[in-house]
Amino acid sequence: MSELNKIALKILSNGKGILAADESNGTMTKRLDTVNVPSTPENRLLFRETLFSSKSMINCIGGVILYDETINQSSSSGKKIPTLISENGTVPGIKVDTGAKILANSSEEKITEGLDGLRERLTAYYQLGARFTKWRGVYSISKKYPSQLAISSNAHALARYSALVQECGMVPIVEPEVLMDGEHSAEDCLTKTSDVIQKCFEELIIHKIDLTGIILKPNMILAGNNSKNKISSEEVSSKTLECLKKSVPNEVPGIAFLSGGQSEIEATENLNLINKNNNTNFIMTYSYGRALQQSALKFWSKDINNTKGTQNIFNHRARMNTLAAQGKWSRELENK
Ligand code: 13P
Repeated sequence: MSELNKIALKILSNGKGILAADESNGTMTKRLDTVNVPSTPENRLLFRETLFSSKSMINCIGGVILYDETINQSSSSGKKIPTLISENGTVPGIKVDTGAKILANSSEEKITEGLDGLRERLTAYYQLGARFTKWRGVYSISKKYPSQLAISSNAHALARYSALVQECGMVPIVEPEVLMDGEHSAEDCLTKTSDVIQKCFEELIIHKIDLTGIILKPNMILAGNNSKNKISSEEVSSKTLECLKKSVPNEVPGIAFLSGGQSEIEATENLNLINKNNNTNFIMTYSYGRALQQSALKFWSKDINNTKGTQNIFNHRARMNTLAAQGKWSRELENK
């Protein structure tokens, strides 16, 4: 077993999942604006530190994705944030892309940037304690999109990023996110997500990536949020499994889904059914941002010093998702 494979399994095994707390300052400001809390470095740290010192870090959360600001901060007790995370057995990770920019020659689409100087940034993050990384490619669905140009340029960037990350001894999260925005059908999402993921693996293989040492972070197969033809959770799970079975090589140890704008319960219910029906060898778990933090953030915003109360809400959500990652969740458990 390679060292990279060991790290991936440590993050994902036994129903554990990933807390995606890597919102850029811009995105975090939007989240804090919705609950009327000023977006200062201190407030961003206080909310995140509240989550990182909760008990679900021991039982449920196998990895935390940080943003550059947070990995360089220290907690109120003076501990470096990566130390606070790893002393509970959780693996610290870091977002290393520098965001999605307009794609030249297809200006309605995006290409993710951040390859320049990446090798040096990775060395610095490794020294700060990071052992895995994230890079998100983003694709939208419409009649003509995603274009071949967007599919192949983002896959190429994801592969170049993955090679540098593995060279530095860390596990790359490969995140091709096909957005749920739009009127498209679930069938369309299935076809286009499959094209996107297949192209990613084509490039990862050309770039000689050790597939046992990556984590794939895809979207689930859903109808667009403005589609008239929504599908049931059972159909989400069967279409998602169909897509991954035909698109992901067997060596990949695990798949950690993004929530992508689903409600907290929806994201948990869909993950639970994916695991109940899982007829693959892949670990299937969560790498949620909004679907793990939304309720906790809302509660915290009413009294930002109520650490215990905020942690109770976060712990519940983490526990529900860890049960779902084992196919053991049910709606009744939400009220216990
Ligand atoms: P969401 O779960 O809120 O989609 O965030 C996950 C993530 O890391 C997006 O890049």
